[in-house]
Formats: sequence, C-alpha cells, structure tokens
Amino acid sequence: MGEDRSRGQAPQSVLTEIPKSAAHQRGAFFGRRKGHKLRKQQAGLYEDLLPKLSLDISQAAPRELASIFPFALEKLQLEIGFGGGEHLLHEARKHPSTGFIGCEPFINGMAKMLAVIQKEAIPNIRLHPSDALYLLEWLPEHSLDRIDILYADPWPKKRHWKRRFISDENVARFARVLKPGGMLRFASDIDTYVEWALVRLLRAKEFHWLAEKADDWRLPYPDWPGTRYEQKALREGRKPAYLEFRRV
Ligand SMILES: C[S@@+](CC[C@H](N)C(=O)[O-])C[C@H]1O[C@@H](n2cnc3c(N)ncnc32)[C@H](O)[C@@H]1O
Repeated sequence: MGEDRSRGQAPQSVLTEIPKSAAHQRGAFFGRRKGHKLRKQQAGLYEDLLPKLSLDISQAAPRELASIFPFALEKLQLEIGFGGGEHLLHEARKHPSTGFIGCEPFINGMAKMLAVIQKEAIPNIRLHPSDALYLLEWLPEHSLDRIDILYADPWPKKRHWKRRFISDENVARFARVLKPGGMLRFASDIDTYVEWALVRLLRAKEFHWLAEKADDWRLPYPDWPGTRYEQKALREGRKPAYLEFRRV
C-alpha cells in the first residue's frame, strides 16, 4: 500500500463510495483525475486525513447538514471544482462561522488542500474527492446558503458542450439544494460558456440574476482573492464574467 500511495493513487476506500443509480453511472466529470506523482507526505494525508474530512455519501445525508461539523455554524457553502483551493481556503479563513464543502476530483488539487488544512488546522472545511453530481444528489433539500462554480472546465469545442457542468439538470439540482434566498456564483473567462450558463440560469424560474449594470458582472465579487485559472485567463488576455444569482 505504501508503494501505491507514493505513486499518487487515491485509496480505493475514498473513490468507491459512489452510488449506482442511472444518473450516477453517467457522471459529470470528464477531466483529469491524476497529475504528477504525490509526494510521500501528500499521499499520507490522502490516506489518513481525507477519510476523516470526506462526506460519507454512501449513507443518507443527516437531516441537519450542519451536523457534519462539530460546532455551531451560521452558514453552509459549497465550492465545486476548487482546483488549487485558493478561493476556498481564503473563504474558510475569513468566515470561521461558515462551514464549507469543497469538491474536487483532481487528486493533486485535493492533496494540496489537505496539506494546507493540516498545516493551518482549518476546522471548517469538509471534502468530497469526486464528481459534484454525486454530492448534489446526496445533499438534503434547501441545505446550502451558497454554491460557487469558478472557472468550470469550459469544453470550448462544440462537440464537447454536453460535458459542461452547467446544464438544465444541474441547475435544477442547484435549486433543490440551495435555501430560498441562497446564492449561486458562476465565474468564467470563456464567453461561450458565460452565454451558455446565462441561458440556462435565466430560464430557470428558481433563479434571479442580480446584475443591474455591466460592472456587476465585469468586476469580481467583493473580497475576491482570485484563482489560478483566473490568473491564467488574465495573462492570456481574456476578461472574466462574474455572475451571481439568487435562489428565489
Ligand atoms: C478549470 S479548473 C478551475 C479550478 C479552480 N476553480 C480555479 O479557478 O482555478 C476546473 C476544475 O473543476 C473540476 N471539475 C470538473 N468537473 C467536475 C465535476 N463534475 N465535479 C467536481 N469538480 C469538477 C476539475 O477537476 C478542475 O479542477
């Protein structure tokens, strides 16, 4: 097992807890699960710390989702595809009375997150190291105050558009798990994906786009730390859009 770990393999225990309904078999993750080999310490955290912080979606969700944290919380937020974790960590440090669920199937991103959580003893993050679709199906109705989807894989080629995470089906899933009055943030630097997301969110009666003027989507959200993909987009001359919707 030690040998396998040093090759950057995720322990099977974490990756096999995937329900088997028809929707789940299809899945929504088409990206890369592994990058470079994990260092020994990272692999150790993946094996030891990740199971402690992972949500057990093989069991029914608790009626009170906040009970996944051992202390009282004011809010619960989910970040889908946190990548290197810059934004999720910034939010968790700034808002200690909010509980965060971070979802990221990319093993190296998750390993990086685990290292920071351990080093800084961050108490208010729980993790899901797999496809967000499974998590959205597991979460109780009206349990979240906010969902963030930042620089989701854009799948720019038309034949891959069906892989985009924003779909009418997933918009309905966001509506189910968000509390009325809850927020959904979607930022992207790919204009066809911004249009794609707007079309799907504007036709969903559960969501209201908050923008009143161009700067509301041209400027980042307040207290925005940026993300790695955003930096890449800005370096390459692409202008992101920052959409925000209220669950009515
Ligand atoms: C382009 S990266 C952006 C990462 C980060 N949010 C940022 O802005 O730097 C998209 C991320 O979404 C993750 N992702 C893609 N499909 C996903 C899914 N179905 N569930 C959860 N995460 C997903 C990928 O693994 C990847 O890390």
